[in-house]
Formats: sequence, structure tokens, C-alpha cells
Amino acid sequence: MFSLRGIAALLSLPLVANFVNAAKHKAFVGREGAPDVFYTVEFDDEALTLELAANTSVPTPGGFVAFNFDKTTLYSTVQDYGTNGAGSTNLSVPVLTSYSIDADGNLTPSGELYATSDNADTFGSGVWVAANFAPPYEVHMISLNKDNKSGHIVMSVDANGSLKETSQTFVFGNTSYLHGGTFHPTMKWVYILDVDQNMIFTYSTNNGSVEYVANFTLPYPVDGPRHAIVHPNGQKLYLVTENSNHLAAFNIDLETGLPTGEGMVYYSMLQEGEDASLFWCSEVMLSPSNSLLWAANRGRVDGRNGSISLFTLDDEGEVEKQNFLINTTTSGGLANLVAPVLFSDRYIALPDLEVGFVEMWELAEDNSTATIIAHLDLADGGCCENVIWWS
Ligand SMILES: *[C@@H]1O[C@H](CO)[C@@H](O)[C@H](O)[C@H]1NC(C)=O
Ligand SMILES: *[C@@H]1O[C@H](CO)[C@@H](O)[C@H](O)[C@H]1NC(C)=O
Ligand SMILES: *[C@@H]1O[C@H](CO)[C@@H](O)[C@H](O)[C@H]1NC(C)=O
Ligand SMILES: *[C@@H]1O[C@H](CO)[C@@H](O)[C@H](O)[C@H]1NC(C)=O
Ligand SMILES: *[C@@H]1O[C@H](CO)[C@@H](O)[C@H](O)[C@H]1NC(C)=O
Ligand SMILES: *[C@@H]1O[C@H](CO)[C@@H](O)[C@H](O)[C@H]1NC(C)=O
Ligand SMILES: *[C@@H]1O[C@H](CO)[C@@H](O)[C@H](O)[C@H]1NC(C)=O
Ligand SMILES: *[C@@H]1O[C@H](CO)[C@@H](O)[C@H](O)[C@H]1NC(C)=O
Ligand SMILES: *[C@@H]1O[C@H](CO)[C@@H](O)[C@H](O)[C@H]1NC(C)=O
Ligand SMILES: *[C@@H]1O[C@H](CO)[C@@H](O)[C@H](O)[C@H]1NC(C)=O
Repeated sequence: MFSLRGIAALLSLPLVANFVNAAKHKAFVGREGAPDVFYTVEFDDEALTLELAANTSVPTPGGFVAFNFDKTTLYSTVQDYGTNGAGSTNLSVPVLTSYSIDADGNLTPSGELYATSDNADTFGSGVWVAANFAPPYEVHMISLNKDNKSGHIVMSVDANGSLKETSQTFVFGNTSYLHGGTFHPTMKWVYILDVDQNMIFTYSTNNGSVEYVANFTLPYPVDGPRHAIVHPNGQKLYLVTENSNHLAAFNIDLETGLPTGEGMVYYSMLQEGEDASLFWCSEVMLSPSNSLLWAANRGRVDGRNGSISLFTLDDEGEVEKQNFLINTTTSGGLANLVAPVLFSDRYIALPDLEVGFVEMWELAEDNSTATIIAHLDLADGGCCENVIWWS
């Protein structure tokens, strides 16, 4: 027998998803360099189509992208590995660019800032960026030069989000290979992940003043943390690794912000019998309800297909199970970064750089698999890297 509440849930959920919310949702697409354009894509949640909504010419080749707290500014690293002659870009020094976003989602360049420090010229190019969502909204970038140094660079911003100046740099020697990070939901701490040292560095971010707190070494066999995300309860960190190809989850101390490693669980992101050295995990993201966790890996060589995996979480953010691990249709190139939409748990975007496209995947009703429902070719040599949903 159905309870009244059960019937209400059955009736209202599809109504919300299919009718009340029927809309087009915009996302910006990060890149791996030239040509100097930014793509805006649009997902129609009724027709289930993905289209190119805007192709904006910009002064600098784009990279990994992130929003500020109210999505009125987009920050982009400049990831051009020498294929583009773009005038203003000095590739020996990490560069960050900012774009203001108007109410319709149009981009206007609003700043370009080179990291400044005694040895910034050994930092290589920016590979990851995220803005603090708490005042004064400083922006954190990771830069990487595999032959010498990595940097964690902090840049201050004006009230309108435009980049102002390099406020701090943290230099890492060539035993490090920084490649990603994430904020604690309180915005009091930022975690920077080091693939080669198998470490997480915790920094406090007090009113724009960033301080190193401690490092945490991941336990064997979890190896090579690349990207991470923290549950909104602030007590569970999820990460994916480049070397061992795991999804790992463990506790954070809510008082100190430090990862404790307690309650650690980990799952393989490799298909049966696959060799870890041929894959490197790319991304981990929560669904909007925080009850599902998406993760992905990619092949290190073209033709070696990547995978998408889904995990079910309980109310506390504990991983209950790995629902599936299914192949993507390409290696993903340097991309395959899953990007759940904001309005539903049922859809994710998946960008690819081997061929150059963005796809939409839909989760099956019983959460047992996902299928491609829309595909947009964007094969220009530099697209695509990450996708960030604006609406
Ligand atoms: C975007 O614009 C550029 C420059 O105008 C053009 O060369 C390119 O073909 C466009 N890309 C797409 C996917 O339409
Ligand atoms: C943002 O604010 C700064 C400082 O007031 C100003 O110099 C800059 O022109 C502004 N940028 C935009 C895009 O409005
Ligand atoms: C690039 O940056 C380096 C290090 O700051 C500097 O020495 C060099 O002059 C810059 N080159 C250009 C073309 O701006
Ligand atoms: C790391 O730096 C040291 C000191 O500069 C150098 O001797 C070594 O060759 C570097 N290693 C790599 C892998 O670049
Ligand atoms: C850093 O690595 C780059 C190549 O990626 C090389 O050109 C540069 O000389 C290196 N700098 C130092 C200080 O070792
Ligand atoms: C944050 O720093 C700014 C200047 O850097 C200062 O004016 C402000 O009072 C500080 N706020 C707090 C809460 O400490
Ligand atoms: C990690 O922390 C330990 C303990 O404080 C310290 O001895 C070590 O130098 C740190 N390692 C790095 C790479 O920061
Ligand atoms: C997924 O890819 C693996 C190779 O990594 C292959 O062995 C397996 O057959 C593929 N599965 C499907 C359903 O295509
Ligand atoms: C990768 O996926 C494509 C599309 O599903 C398939 O045609 C191809 O055989 C797969 N490659 C491997 C090595 O599994
Ligand atoms: C599928 O996931 C949703 C969360 O989006 C959850 O509400 C639902 O119970 C799950 N269904 C099954 C069969 O596990």
C-alpha cells in the first residue's frame, strides 16, 4: 500500500524534473590551449540535446576553468604547451586570466595576471584553479613543470572578481607533482594534492591569508591523488588517484580541517584485468543531492578507453557501494572529467580531448548504469578539458 507521502514523492519528483524545471542549462568548457576561444554549451533538459550556445574569441588560449562564488567571474589557467603563438602569453610563467560573466552568460576578458615570485619562471603552466567562496575571494592556482617545480599560487581579486595581484606563492621541488585541490565547505581550508609524493597538503585560508598547516600521506595501495572533493558535512574527503587508479574516501577532522585517514575505503577504477600504468584517474564529483558520487579515469594512450564509475553514499557521506564501472568511448585524452548537472542527479557532462567533444550521459532509473544521450563535436585540437555548469 502506498503512503500519502510516497505518492506525493512519486508524483512530485517527475513533475519537478520534467515540467516545472524544464529549461536550458549553460556550461563553460575548459580547454588545453589554442585556438583562442571559449565554448559555452547548453543542455536542454526536455529535448535532451546538447548544443553550442556561444563561441567567444578571447585574447589568451584557455585552460582549466572555475567560477567565483556568485558565478559572475570565470577564471582560466593558460595551458598552452607551445602550440600557439598568442602574443601576450609568456609560457615560462604561470598565467591566470579572468572573464566577467553577464546575466546572459556572455564572457568579457577582465584580467590577466602572471605569477610573480623570485623563481616563478620555473613553475611551468597553470593546471588547476579554484576561487575561495568566502571574502576576500582569493584565487588559488596550481602550476606544474614536470622537469623542475610545482607551485601553489594565491592571487587576490578586486570586488568585481578581476584578478589583482599575486599575494603568495608556495614552491615545491621536483619530487612533487601537484595537480589538483579542493576547498573545505567552510572555506577555512584548502587541500592541495601531490601525485608523486602521494600527499595532501592542508592550508588554512584566513581572510585571504593562506598558511600551510600539515601534510597527510595516503596509505598503500592508494597512490597518486589527483582531484578531490569534500562532502558538504565537512567530514568526508573523496579523491581519485593517477597511479593506483582508486576512488578513496576517508574522514576529515571538523575542528582542525585535517584529513585523518580514518574510515578509509577505496575502490578500483580499473576494468577487470587492466594494468594501472595505462590509466590515470581524472575526476570525482558529487551529485546535487550529495547521495551519489561520480568518478572517472582515462587511458594514458589514445585507443585505451577510459571509464566512468558511480558510487552510492549514505546520509553521512559514507560510501555504501560502487554501482558500476563502465567504459567511455575514447581514452578521454587529458580530459574525461565528469561534471554532474546542478538541477538533477540523473545527468552528467563528459568532456573528451582525444577526439574533441562533450557528451551528456543519463543515469538509468535503477542507478545500475549510464548511457550517452547527447554528443557535441568540438574537435579543434585544444578542446576539451573540464566542464563547469553555470545554470
Ligand atoms: C569558433 O570560432 C572560431 C573562430 O571564429 C572558428 O574558427 C571555429 O570553427 C568555431 N568553433 C566551432 C566549434 O564552431
Ligand atoms: C574591476 O575593478 C577594478 C578596481 O576597481 C577596476 O580597475 C577594473 O576595471 C574592474 N574590472 C571590470 C571588468 O569591471
Ligand atoms: C617571461 O617571464 C620571464 C620570467 O619572469 C621573464 O624573464 C621574461 O622576460 C618574460 N618574457 C616575456 C616575453 O615577457
Ligand atoms: C630535480 O632537481 C634536481 C636539483 O636541481 C636535479 O638534479 C634533478 O635532475 C631534477 N630531477 C628531475 C627529474 O628533473
Ligand atoms: C625547468 O624545466 C624546463 C623544461 O620543462 C627547462 O627549460 C628549464 O630550464 C628548467 N629550469 C630549471 C631551473 O631547471
Ligand atoms: C580582512 O582583511 C582586510 C584587509 O586585508 C581587513 O580590512 C579586514 O578587517 C579583515 N577582516 C577580518 C574579519 O579580519
Ligand atoms: C610532512 O610533514 C612532516 C611532519 O611535519 C615533515 O617532517 C615533512 O617535511 C613534510 N613533508 C613535506 C613534503 O612537506
Ligand atoms: C571495457 O573495456 C575493457 C578494456 O579496458 C574491455 O575488456 C571490456 O570488454 C569493455 N567492456 C565493454 C562492455 O565494452
Ligand atoms: C573503445 O570504445 C569504442 C566505442 O565503444 C569501441 O569501438 C572500441 O572497441 C573500444 N576500445 C577498446 C580497446 O576497448
Ligand atoms: C538512485 O539514486 C537516487 C539518488 O539520486 C536515489 O534516490 C534512489 O533511491 C536510487 N535508486 C536505487 C534503485 O538505488
